[in-house]
Amino acid sequence: MVDIIDAIIMRKSIRDFKTDPVPKQILKEILETATRAPSAENTQSWEFTIIAGDVLNTIRQANVEKLNSGASAHPDLQTKGLPPDSVYRRRQIEIAKQIFKLMDIPREDKEKRARWMKRGFRYFNAPAAIVVYVDRSLSYPRPLFDIGAVTQNICLAALHYGLGTCIANQGIAYPEVLHEFAGISESKRIIISIAIGYPNWDFPANSVVSTREPIENIITWCGLDDKNSD
Ligand SMILES: Cc1cc2nc3c(=O)[nH]c(=O)nc-3n(C[C@H](O)[C@H](O)[C@H](O)COP(=O)(O)O)c2cc1C
Repeated sequence: MVDIIDAIIMRKSIRDFKTDPVPKQILKEILETATRAPSAENTQSWEFTIIAGDVLNTIRQANVEKLNSGASAHPDLQTKGLPPDSVYRRRQIEIAKQIFKLMDIPREDKEKRARWMKRGFRYFNAPAAIVVYVDRSLSYPRPLFDIGAVTQNICLAALHYGLGTCIANQGIAYPEVLHEFAGISESKRIIISIAIGYPNWDFPANSVVSTREPIENIITWCGLDDKNSD
């Protein structure tokens, strides 16, 4: 049993997996545990489709075909690009540089970069993917906190079974693919996907350790000092 603090620290994004399938019973137990997450007024706005096997392979292929056709990503939850020259953009570039270095992908190698990009749209070759969605009758941003909480719980619970995860926007870039091939109703807004499987620890990018801003840069203490903090 992994201690909760260790689990939070251990969790990291996994971007290549062994081919071994994840037993349905384990996925069920993960979802059962994860849905103990808090939700606004206990609305439990989350719903899931778990995809594996031939269906997942069809979806991987359809996503890559869309990407190759030049179709721009149009997730149900559209976000604008990051502000240029911001700390957010700096962190985004930093993780990309770390990964590209480990994967030996030079900046100018367009082919290798495109191949890397496709990996995300293929759910990082995971044997299963969890798609998380909410009913369209729920207006934003209301359910998003719930989805964030349950998604993190899934990633933490997965560790208990020796599984790795990667939360991925890339996997939901073309919602029509998921509506068509996974049968997700048009009445649902697709929020996020989570690739899940047994990590391939020989894959270079899986050794990446993403950085974090020192907390003194992001915390403002009010009414506490080192003497009276207990
Ligand atoms: C909402 C969300 C969407 C993400 N989408 C992607 C994605 O499409 N592709 C990818 O490689 N990683 C994706 N990630 C993983 C982040 O890049 C990763 O969490 C971050 O770099 C920190 O690294 P860590 O998860 O290893 O701690 C996503 C994470 C979140 C929370």
